[in-house]
Amino acid sequence: MQDVEGKIAFITGGASGIGLGMAIAFVNAGMNVVISDFRRDHLEESTAYFKKKNLENNTHHLRLDVTNRDAFVRAADEAEGKFGKVHVLCNNAGMGILGPVKQAKFDDWDWALEVMIGGVVNGIQTFLPRILKHGEGGHIVTTSSMGGVIPLAGSPIYSTVKAGVVGMCEAMRGELAEENIGVSAFCPGPVSTNIHEVGLMRPEKYKKDSGYAEKEQALSDRPKFSNEMSIEECGERVLRGIRRNDLYIFTHREFREGVAERMGAMLASFPNEEINRERAKEFAFLTSNPIFRQVIEAAGRS
Ligand SMILES: NC(=O)c1ccc[n+]([C@@H]2O[C@H](COP(=O)([O-])OP(=O)(O)OC[C@H]3O[C@@H](n4cnc5c(N)ncnc54)[C@H](O)[C@@H]3O)[C@@H](O)[C@H]2O)c1
Repeated sequence: MQDVEGKIAFITGGASGIGLGMAIAFVNAGMNVVISDFRRDHLEESTAYFKKKNLENNTHHLRLDVTNRDAFVRAADEAEGKFGKVHVLCNNAGMGILGPVKQAKFDDWDWALEVMIGGVVNGIQTFLPRILKHGEGGHIVTTSSMGGVIPLAGSPIYSTVKAGVVGMCEAMRGELAEENIGVSAFCPGPVSTNIHEVGLMRPEKYKKDSGYAEKEQALSDRPKFSNEMSIEECGERVLRGIRRNDLYIFTHREFREGVAERMGAMLASFPNEEINRERAKEFAFLTSNPIFRQVIEAAGRS
């Protein structure tokens, strides 16, 4: 979507960190942005930020828990009532549920799956029919992580949900291209956000059978890393990815060799034997996906 000026974006988890960085970049590019979040303190801070910049007319803040499907519908109605047709959906809400499988309990898995898979599903099911209906095209960005491509050693829950949405984006990409709707899997590396406040966000219902809840409280006090990317730079990279219709939006060059190593490990694991030509022919629709060739060719042109 080259021409973003005047277009409307809806961001989940948009009042803090990476989502706020997207909102800043979008507003600076002339878009109107609906910033949804379930943390009231973040909504208040974000509202104050845009007011101070005299950009409050280009933003609309609303409270939304992405796990609540009825509330999602109401939020979409409110967004359209405020600004009109929504073109860009950013499924960004999430939290850093980190820890080893040996300590994980059902509440840890369930919370992560409900927000970071279920919340994305709710976003797509709510907004895709609306984008298709207005027919002006659009873009869906879903925030994964480098941890969705290079799974974090010792944190399988986070890696599961983040890898899941990469596959979701790859599978939707070709189908929605026919409708002039771009799809991006956004895979940031370390960004300076409030992600360490995971303990503040865990709902009561997911505290009873958790192996991580206690440790998460201490995470809120962890010192900040010094080489994280700023949310502003991160947001600009998302905007560029939307404009270029990138399938993968990567932010950190430092991870390229790790990705190559993972792909190399997969390639090295195939049976070293002749292709069964008849089988390859019959299952040609499964053995690759045209989106990969398109990405490689587009990268060659830029
Ligand atoms: N910070 C990083 O280094 C990093 C790296 C890779 C991926 N990510 C991903 O980026 C996304 C944004 O995280 P962040 O780092 O900006 O953290 P953040 O805590 O600063 O922002 C996340 C926002 O999501 C909101 N949120 C959480 N659960 C929600 C729910 N159920 N409904 C609605 N809103 C909800 C929070 O209130 C918060 O405002 C997450 O999906 C995270 O996994 C972050």
